[in-house]
Amino acid sequence: MKIAFPVLAALLVLIPACSTPSEKEMDRFVSSLMKDMSIEEKIGQLNLQSAAGFVSAEKVTTEDENRRALESGMLGALYGSFDTKTLREAQEMALKAPHHIPLFFGYDIIHGHQTIFPVPLALSTSWNMDLIEKSARIAAREATAQGINWVFSPMVDIARDPRWGRIVEGSGEDPFLGGEIAKAMVRGYQGEGFEGDSTVMACVKHFALYGAAEAGRDYNTVDMSRQRALNEYLYPYEAAAQAGAASYMSSFNEFEGVPATGNHYLLTELLRDSWGFDGFVVSDATAIKEMQAHGIGDLQEVSATALQAGLDMDMNSNGFVGTLKKSLEEGRAREADIDLACRRILEAKYRLGLFENPFKYFETGRESEVYSPAHKAAAREIAAESQVLLKNNGVLPLRKDARVAVIGPFADAPSEMAGTWSMSSHLRECVSIIDGMRDVSEGSIACAAGSWMFNDPELEETVLYGLYKYFVPGFQVPPIHPRGKQELLCEALAAAAGADVIVACVGEPKNMNGEGASRTTLCLPDAQEELLKALKATGKPVVMVLTTGRPLTLGWEEENMDAILCTWALGTEAGHAIADVLYGDVNPSGKLTTTFPRSLGQVPLYYNHKNTGRPHGDTAPYVKFRSNYIDEINAPLYPFGFGLSYTGFEYGEPVLSSAEIGLGDEFTVSVEVRNTGTRAGKETVQLYIHDIYGSTTRPVKSLRAFRKICLEPGESRKVVFQLSTDDLRYWNAALENVCEPGDFEIMTGPNSRDVKTVLLSVR
Ligand code: NOJ
Repeated sequence: MKIAFPVLAALLVLIPACSTPSEKEMDRFVSSLMKDMSIEEKIGQLNLQSAAGFVSAEKVTTEDENRRALESGMLGALYGSFDTKTLREAQEMALKAPHHIPLFFGYDIIHGHQTIFPVPLALSTSWNMDLIEKSARIAAREATAQGINWVFSPMVDIARDPRWGRIVEGSGEDPFLGGEIAKAMVRGYQGEGFEGDSTVMACVKHFALYGAAEAGRDYNTVDMSRQRALNEYLYPYEAAAQAGAASYMSSFNEFEGVPATGNHYLLTELLRDSWGFDGFVVSDATAIKEMQAHGIGDLQEVSATALQAGLDMDMNSNGFVGTLKKSLEEGRAREADIDLACRRILEAKYRLGLFENPFKYFETGRESEVYSPAHKAAAREIAAESQVLLKNNGVLPLRKDARVAVIGPFADAPSEMAGTWSMSSHLRECVSIIDGMRDVSEGSIACAAGSWMFNDPELEETVLYGLYKYFVPGFQVPPIHPRGKQELLCEALAAAAGADVIVACVGEPKNMNGEGASRTTLCLPDAQEELLKALKATGKPVVMVLTTGRPLTLGWEEENMDAILCTWALGTEAGHAIADVLYGDVNPSGKLTTTFPRSLGQVPLYYNHKNTGRPHGDTAPYVKFRSNYIDEINAPLYPFGFGLSYTGFEYGEPVLSSAEIGLGDEFTVSVEVRNTGTRAGKETVQLYIHDIYGSTTRPVKSLRAFRKICLEPGESRKVVFQLSTDDLRYWNAALENVCEPGDFEIMTGPNSRDVKTVLLSVR
């Protein structure tokens, strides 16, 4: 349907033909538009609703309400649908409103749109910024081909507590690596800007500190000093702003006693005044409303607080549209704040080019790119690099002619491969492990489920179907445990009997991690532990292929399995990529970005911790009055940065360009790395620093640089890192970002544990 835009056309004369409009022209355009807008319409722009009609425990809107809001200009954006027809109709309706202001269309595209890439935690273990950027680029191309122009990603929350289910959505525990990944994702989504029709606005979330929820319980309180926040958590959010991210999403948690959604320090002082961010901030879903339960006011009050703090758009609370006008009349909100929020949103629409052509994302003609063979090939390549080999006694890689028994509830579970946040994908078309292996194997392959997911049927129902029961009214839960435990096991043991090697496919189902999926234990589900024990008892070599979205405690598995390959949830091409690694067509090169603890009681456990006054070696046995445990050593099971290869790498000593430098100087650190094996392999060379004495305490190690290289068998390479004393800075007690002269340990190595050290003096 064609729409006449008389007012829009009049306004558009202000936009020059050139495709990169200057800020000044944008300013003129937005000012002129806003002059004509009523206060209701301005507030309407601050309103984001779910296109699906509901989002949370409580229905806050209905489709009909959305329609009415659209036609009267009371909606700034919609999210949650990728149905191009619906979105196009919504745009047409929005353009009928008095000022013909187009909508944004948001979606939770977290690790790919229809072509699904590895879950973010898995992606981070590739340490490959080019591939990570490529995954976001492809997601943007697919999303925009279907009308979406705003993605709720990247999620950059640093997380050190694997009980927190959302650890799967981020890049792990290290702020430096997290910052590099945040930049790569923003570059991937936004490209060089929004001139064309294949880039999307990124939305950096969850601002801020959401990953530090107490006890790993989702949405829980966060309490830490600003100094700690700046040194250990905030850098990835800042890095995303440096990369030009167009929007941010406020988080559910509180900080310093004020929910992030109404926190002036976070939303204004830090994000805008200090980092120079000039886009807009949206709340998380119903987060304004939730400030009532946090206990800081009724809906009218918390809405005014959020606006005044610097929040621009309300997702699903109806707090802004429902109360701001009243607050204005009563003198509890300022018109200038409403104007500012509205201006930021209109500017974003202008930058996207929506005023010029509100339908530009519906006319891309690129539908055939979505889920295309080229995108699937990229997904396979990226998934192959996102796996971490945790143990191998030589059983891997498998011979192609080996007789293999592929056993476990994840062996033939295509939709489990997609991982959390993959609603827009073809879940059942994800390549299962068994199908991927069948494509490569030249031997025989037998397959059996071997066990239930969980022994407890209620738990199985909750984990597997809880999400659907919540979102799909009348959802029919399929029969739980339709086959008996003994029957499943007998079938598996029969399959194992005719095999040379067992590949045990176990782990956490995808709905056991992600949002609202915190755990108090970190072991494998009980039924699957029992299965592994039965497989071990066969005496055959067992390779464990682990599907998971969080670090687990794998002490028994480390002792008893012949190999452990952590494959997380790898997306559309999971099975192919897993087979590539199992059969050695791809040499594994992933390295952990989260520490794997030995015991739950060690949590939170992270490599970049501080020393105590009574430090105790990582592996030393218990000693009274030292900082340690009676019943466990301090060391993790697998440290940050760890991951094996089918070849070996030998590291030389790190060499400094100069052992003594002055403040502001640059220096290099070089290290020779040699491939000692018979296969080519990729290796991520890591560089850590330790400020020995500071005016406040510093972590025992902090990652400051890394490089992923590829070495042929026998090849040596000198890896040179170019640094300056800026890389030695931190936030001191006065919250100044400084490098304090003194001695620094500079460490290089294949992971955070096995490093070699050289001393650098800064004078
Ligand atoms: C809540 C989640 O916390 C956030 O990550 C997501 O983007 C929004 N809901 C929208 O679905």
